[in-house]
Amino acid sequence: MSTTENPTEHGPEGSEKQNGFENPGLPYHRPRRADVDPKADKKAERQVAALFGVSIVGTIVAIGSYMALDMTDEIDSIRFVNMAIGLGIFLAMIGIGLGAIHWAKTLMRDHEMVEERHAMRSSDEAREGAIQNLKDGAEDSGIGGVKRRPVLIGSMLTALLAAPLALLWPQIGNMGADWNTSNFGHTMWRKGMRLTRDPDGTPIKASDVTIGSAFHVIPDGLNELEHHKIEEKAKAVVLLLRLDPRDLKIQEGREDWSFDGIVAYSKICTHVGCPVALYEQQTHHLLCPCHQSTFDVADGAKVVFGPAKRPLPQLPIAVDDEGYIVAQSDFHEPIGPSYWTRLSDTSDGLHADDTEGSSH
Ligand code: FES
Repeated sequence: MSTTENPTEHGPEGSEKQNGFENPGLPYHRPRRADVDPKADKKAERQVAALFGVSIVGTIVAIGSYMALDMTDEIDSIRFVNMAIGLGIFLAMIGIGLGAIHWAKTLMRDHEMVEERHAMRSSDEAREGAIQNLKDGAEDSGIGGVKRRPVLIGSMLTALLAAPLALLWPQIGNMGADWNTSNFGHTMWRKGMRLTRDPDGTPIKASDVTIGSAFHVIPDGLNELEHHKIEEKAKAVVLLLRLDPRDLKIQEGREDWSFDGIVAYSKICTHVGCPVALYEQQTHHLLCPCHQSTFDVADGAKVVFGPAKRPLPQLPIAVDDEGYIVAQSDFHEPIGPSYWTRLSDTSDGLHADDTEGSSH
């Protein structure tokens, strides 16, 4: 491969026409300020170093926010902490990107390079040319050669080494978190707890639930929780549906878990935990929008399509003296996706205490 650097003329006079076109040549090369002015060169170098510095600051902000800011259950607090971490990661990444671009545009050679078409196998001369180009590139970048740029190299290496920490630190930090998977086996539901509408928390009477309707449900009292409200909601959300009792295939051992065609199932997909929220009342199918797992509500919410491996857990329900729908207990199995220590029956000790009104 051979390259020719910047043929200096606008259009070679008397150049031969090829396929009816005249070779226009390359435009005149106008040197940049940094090419001719050592002060401008230094200034550009400082600007690049400053951009890498921005990246380093961003990394510090991300890690500092993760470690120093206290995230409460309040949505504003969660937003603020996430925004601070996200801003830090943004600065860490954009600083490196802009620094590299600025470096290439202002300090590295900007001559047009022309490469002639050549045979598939490179000639020895072309190979030498390639090696020379690489050397020239290293020289231009200031990484090697005569004009070394230790400030740039140092700031770039520091930024490159530090930037991954902005992403990795939260993961590493979570290694010591609570990995007790038995938490997934319990939800807020207790015996006698009313099923209420999501999000306003108004209780639901059996007479409100007409055939074909679907309610998004949260446990009574969830909105009053002071701590872990979001975590509890994520585990306890339920879909309440009413079918024609003649369409309902009652599962063995669950003869009294429904009321006159009204059934309640966990809304958390057993694949990877998306909310299952699309109900097709003609087929009685619940569809998870994430990967299209489909559950048959008329048949114990069994999987009829998609990657989910087990039915949605059913919440046993009853109706109290005032006609409101209440839970008979917590779920009898862990909700959500499978995990390595998941146990599937009530004998595993995961099943929650059924005492009415017991706190979680
Ligand atoms: S999370 Fe529901 S199908 Fe994947």
